[in-house]
Amino acid sequence: MTAHSPGHAPSSPRLRVGPLASTGVDTLSLDIDALIDDPATGIIVCCGSGGVGKTTTSAALALRAAERGRNVVVLTIDPARRLAQSMGIAELDNTPRPVAGLRWPTASAGGKPGKTEPRMDAMMLDMKRTFDEVVVSQASPERARQILENPFYVALSSSFAGTQEYMAMEKLGQIHRDAEADGTYDLIVVDTPPSRSALDFLDAPERLSSFLDGRFIRLLLAPARGPARLMTAGLTLVTNALTKVLGAQVLRDLQTFVAAFDTLFGGFRQRAQKTFELLQADGTAFLVVASPEPDALREAAYFVERLSADGMPLAGLIVNRATQPPEGDLSAEEALAALSRLGKRSGHQVTAGLLRLHADRTRMVEREALLRERFAAAHPDVPTAVVPALSTDVHDLEGLRRVGTLLAGE
Ligand SMILES: Nc1ncnc2c1ncn2[C@@H]1O[C@H](COP(=O)(O)OP(=O)(O)OP(=O)(O)O)[C@@H](O)[C@H]1O
Ligand SMILES: [Mg+2]
Repeated sequence: MTAHSPGHAPSSPRLRVGPLASTGVDTLSLDIDALIDDPATGIIVCCGSGGVGKTTTSAALALRAAERGRNVVVLTIDPARRLAQSMGIAELDNTPRPVAGLRWPTASAGGKPGKTEPRMDAMMLDMKRTFDEVVVSQASPERARQILENPFYVALSSSFAGTQEYMAMEKLGQIHRDAEADGTYDLIVVDTPPSRSALDFLDAPERLSSFLDGRFIRLLLAPARGPARLMTAGLTLVTNALTKVLGAQVLRDLQTFVAAFDTLFGGFRQRAQKTFELLQADGTAFLVVASPEPDALREAAYFVERLSADGMPLAGLIVNRATQPPEGDLSAEEALAALSRLGKRSGHQVTAGLLRLHADRTRMVEREALLRERFAAAHPDVPTAVVPALSTDVHDLEGLRRVGTLLAGE
């Protein structure tokens, strides 16, 4: 597959080639600053399996881009409370809010000094509210009210598998349309939900559509649409059976809901298709985030292949929370040899403990390098950035700034 990024051919100068850790394997390095500085980059989507650092990476990238002079909005999903508070988005209100405490772009940070006040807005996705907004914008007030009050709608909009993924895409489409219209942002950074399976958010619109398109739903819809006398005997039988199981009110609610929703349906499909196309466009860059563990990297490989199959522009892989190599150049073997020479001699417990720790850490670093090497061998043209694990969680702008610096390889 070919990794590419907006406005750049894979051979562009921002892809630096260098050895990865101690393995000596040449891997393309991902040049984050070139990506976020490129005016052609309009959307960055951070995806990856659960808990790998998607939200942290999204926020860190957005902050770095803003402080280098871009007008940025970051669309986050379920950020940790402290992180949300530090970005001023502790309340779920589905509206991008300005993040306070940004630093002005400086030439030394690679930004364009004095050009514009740094601008970063952040938003936490409220799935149900986004769904409601779509309904209100697409249906007549009376219809919208019917739908919003319907118990099936309430259930669907807050718990249907894939709704969160779908709504994240719906919100991205909305923000992008607004940004195009009034030029508020020139970069949208998108976090993705912790999906059980990779790229659920790409499948969600289709799943939602096929749910609404499904035969069961069609069947239920029929009596609500046509006069009862046109119903076939078979259908009456099914409906009667359902009425017995579900109760008349429930069935009526379901029918009303589906009938009302049906009118919105075309709109949903169309917008999902548009957003899909937006994701495939040249101005979009996907970053796959993974932790340096076999499962996460396997999942990352799947993401990379899936993105390629869907024609989504992949900018690179971010291996987050990598083990920091210990100080000095003592190898694991040397540390273990020294440890065995110390034997059980008394008075050296602390030294022995440190040697064991050093050996363990060095082994871990080697193991992670090997995993990255394997990934690189299978996907040689995917540029990679490695972000070491910090000693604490990332919960404030300073932490995000540090992650941004590490992402940029500084
Ligand atoms: N490089 C890092 N060093 C230290 N801690 C980190 C690093 N990256 C992320 N974390 C911490 O790891 C935790 C998980 O990160 P984050 O919430 O960004 O993951 P996620 O992929 O968005 O998770 P989810 O799939 O649940 O949405 C957070 O507490 C975050 O502060
Ligand atoms: Mg997250």
